[in-house]
Amino acid sequence: MIREFTGRVCVVTGAGSGIGRALAHELAAHGARLALADVDAAGLAETRERAARMGAREIHTEVLDVADRAAVSAWADATAERFGGVDLVVNNAGVSLTADVEEMSWDDFEWLMGVNFWGVAYGTKAFLPHLRRSREGHLVNISSVFGLFGVPSQSAYCAAKYAVRGFTESVRQEMRLSGSGVAVTTVHPGGIKTNIVRNSRTSGAHDRDKVTALHDSASRTSAQRAARIILRGVRRGRARVYVGADATAIDVGSRLLGSVFEPLVRVVSKRTGPTTLAPAPRTVRAKAPGPVPTLSPDGYSNPVTGG
Ligand SMILES: NC(=O)c1ccc[n+]([C@@H]2O[C@H](COP(=O)([O-])OP(=O)(O)OC[C@H]3O[C@@H](n4cnc5c(N)ncnc54)[C@H](O)[C@@H]3O)[C@@H](O)[C@H]2O)c1
Repeated sequence: MIREFTGRVCVVTGAGSGIGRALAHELAAHGARLALADVDAAGLAETRERAARMGAREIHTEVLDVADRAAVSAWADATAERFGGVDLVVNNAGVSLTADVEEMSWDDFEWLMGVNFWGVAYGTKAFLPHLRRSREGHLVNISSVFGLFGVPSQSAYCAAKYAVRGFTESVRQEMRLSGSGVAVTTVHPGGIKTNIVRNSRTSGAHDRDKVTALHDSASRTSAQRAARIILRGVRRGRARVYVGADATAIDVGSRLLGSVFEPLVRVVSKRTGPTTLAPAPRTVRAKAPGPVPTLSPDGYSNPVTGG
């Protein structure tokens, strides 16, 4: 288990913005050696520049599409060779899509799955042999609270995040059973203040500005705080990490409330209001039973925001 990041070789995908950038900077402040990747060259360069100032011992950046299996595989091998090994891998890169399933295009669906699920699977398979060699290797895959419950307009995103959760939990079992020494953590962030929705795709009906405004107002946790919580979970060898009080409330609420949770999500979704361009229907004021947790989502149209 990794207790200290100083001198460790740490890999982060999606490091050009948000949680990935914050992880890179936190790790830099601990004197880690960084291998950072993103499709966004400019964002990656900004992350790199600050990470260098913050104390990273060594930094290599790669402009990379995590949905490109061959490229991810080549990057993993090149990274291990360049640094002499790999200790921590965070498969973080992700995108957002707000679309009702009947109008969602296959192109958008496949794009979302390519980055949010296949990107994680490719990164996991490519880096696992190198993490095994570390003997204290740690794999972190970023799911979401949307990997814990279904949300209207988020079928593709939920599918990918549930898949990441199932995939990662299975990998964890395999790593333990085989005595690999590789620790595996699944992360479920609630609403984090990042640009993920601002840069998202929406279907024709959903309005990105509205979805973004909803995400901005619902997100309570900064990217820096999210990064600190994730790295604390790594140091403690946690199997699952919930980021933010909203994530914890959703996890506990969905388990305690059981079948009542799903109708509750619909009730609060109605209160939240539509994010479609069509005129909103006359206000539906459904009273939520009891206190409603502020389910701040990854920033989508219908999740339960409580405000
Ligand atoms: N922000 C939230 O509320 C929230 C909540 C739950 C989970 N998450 C998850 O956290 C992770 C990080 O998201 P964020 O909020 O920091 O978003 P962000 O948009 O700020 O950062 C995501 C980064 O991933 C990069 N990226 C996108 N497609 C890529 C590709 N094909 N290959 C490589 N890089 C790519 C982007 O360029 C960007 O720099 C994602 O997996 C997201 O699903 C976010």
